[in-house]
Amino acid sequence: MCGIIGYAGSRPALPILFDGLKRLEYRGYDSSGVAILDSEGGLFLHKDAGKLADLLAGLEDPSEGRVGFGHTRWATHGKPTLENAHPHTDCTGDVAVAHNGIVENHRHLREELVAEGHTFLSTTDTEVIPHLIEGHLARGATLEEAVRQTAGRLAGAQAIVALSRQEPDRLVGVRIGHAGGMAVGYGEDELLLASDLPAMVTRAKSVTYLADREMAVITRHKAQVTTLEGARVSRKPLPVTDDGAGAVKGPYRHFMLKEIMEQPESLMGALSDRMDLERMQVTLPGLPYTAEQVNALERVVIVGMGTSYHSALVGREMIETMSRIPTQAENASEFRYRDPVIDNKTLVISIAQSGETVDTLAAMVEAKARGALQITICNVLGSEATRLADYTLYINAGPEIAVASTKTLTGSMVCLYLLAIFLGQHRGTLDQGALQDILGELAHLPKIVGEVVDRGPHYEALARKYFHAADFMVLGRGVNYPVALEGALKLKEISYIHAEGYQAGEMKHGPIALVDEKMPVVAIALKDKLHEKMLGNIEEVKARDGKVIVVATEGDDATAHAGDDVITVPEVSYLLSPILVLAPLQMLAYYIAVRRGCDVDQPRNLAKTVTVE
Ligand code: G6P
Repeated sequence: MCGIIGYAGSRPALPILFDGLKRLEYRGYDSSGVAILDSEGGLFLHKDAGKLADLLAGLEDPSEGRVGFGHTRWATHGKPTLENAHPHTDCTGDVAVAHNGIVENHRHLREELVAEGHTFLSTTDTEVIPHLIEGHLARGATLEEAVRQTAGRLAGAQAIVALSRQEPDRLVGVRIGHAGGMAVGYGEDELLLASDLPAMVTRAKSVTYLADREMAVITRHKAQVTTLEGARVSRKPLPVTDDGAGAVKGPYRHFMLKEIMEQPESLMGALSDRMDLERMQVTLPGLPYTAEQVNALERVVIVGMGTSYHSALVGREMIETMSRIPTQAENASEFRYRDPVIDNKTLVISIAQSGETVDTLAAMVEAKARGALQITICNVLGSEATRLADYTLYINAGPEIAVASTKTLTGSMVCLYLLAIFLGQHRGTLDQGALQDILGELAHLPKIVGEVVDRGPHYEALARKYFHAADFMVLGRGVNYPVALEGALKLKEISYIHAEGYQAGEMKHGPIALVDEKMPVVAIALKDKLHEKMLGNIEEVKARDGKVIVVATEGDDATAHAGDDVITVPEVSYLLSPILVLAPLQMLAYYIAVRRGCDVDQPRNLAKTVTVE
């Protein structure tokens, strides 16, 4: 995992690398470091464990070197210590390397290198890379050649950047497989090399993404892209349009709160230009499929990880209900290893806020190899998922900085809902009257969500009452079961409370044994087709002295009084209800985490984008 930003240009590199690293912290933040060369070949190398801000404090590069790279880490091999932070160097101290991914054969390589006399300082897999490069340089190779030879020996997916004091004008970058990507950015009198666009969005005017098994050499004036076999690659750079706006907290104490509060606007982004209210239909401009292909679909498979997987579960219900196409939702990491039954009559929908989650990308590659149609629902412009899919339904939520996803989840659900309607239109399962009601309601959804997020003081009061709890249970049924999973995930992620989401009907088959007077149970009991069943489950919890926070439909007083506390949400149709229930659960987790003094935006052990398996 981790993030890389490299620079070769006319300006001092350090501040530029710091800026890029700040933008990359979503990929990991347990340690970081920089390596910068001056024109004489002097090397400034600094790294440390802990947050980036600690590394930054008071750091100066006296020689103001103009070629270098920075790295922010999320530990895979070796604890997050100073020794294990990147950059890593060789025995001579001439070569410095930063790396994303896992060198799967690192034990074997390390043994070989130690036998040759190399000395290792860290317990990372990465450190074999500079030592391998050192060996090739010693045999007379250029840096580019040495990196190429080294890359050929590494098993697994990698993104690497390397420099050498012997060639102080250049950086060499490599991409093998999906390990967080690598792209060349073209700026003014400068070139950049980064694991993805956000790191260089303020400087690069255009960008070239490296494909699998490609490498780039950049200097201040020139970038050269080749395959690992040495063939020249010429690919037209894509213009950079995102100015990075939105990545500021404004008046909010945390990004997470800002992003929860932004949901009315972000949902409008997801809806924009996709609803034709005159002709009462959903339009997906540029969708490359013929009506025959859509009509021939026999199955839909939705994949994602973490919060995006919860969106997939909701999407399954939306698509089956609206279009009657059999649909399954699956964790991308399981899907890819399961020999799934998919072919050219299957539509695979991948969901990924980042578009860079390695398991989701691998599932997409698998689906492509089997000939499936592929749509991705994604928030990051130009990310790898958008390049792999036939079509991207952008979430259009603006940058999401907090590690725990909020606005992009609800945005992705709106995209799934639009897709479900679109499929229903094509398959003739939705008549004009139904479409009128559905689209009319959808147009009002952002406003209704606005009402729900504006009740901060109520969620804060609940958090005050329950923040000491050691465990939580969240119960839901039907389309709100994934919401229960997500409510529990948010508590785990940001407040470190052990929380489990269950299908309410499953509770009596085990989890009920956990219920006592210390266990708060959130029960999603909206006025829908499963309402009576949920009321029964609430009674079961109450009978065992559990403390119940009911999520009820506004105006349903009987349900509101069935628990110890209540959160109400306005009435909407069944399939859209998850979007309304999520915001209060996000807020509850947020205020509980704040009360517990947790690092809300950068919770321990997590990263926003997981680029390792
Ligand atoms: C990480 C993040 C989660 C996110 C998941 C999937 O685990 O911490 O918040 O839901 O990755 O990310 P994606 O970018 O694929 O949606």
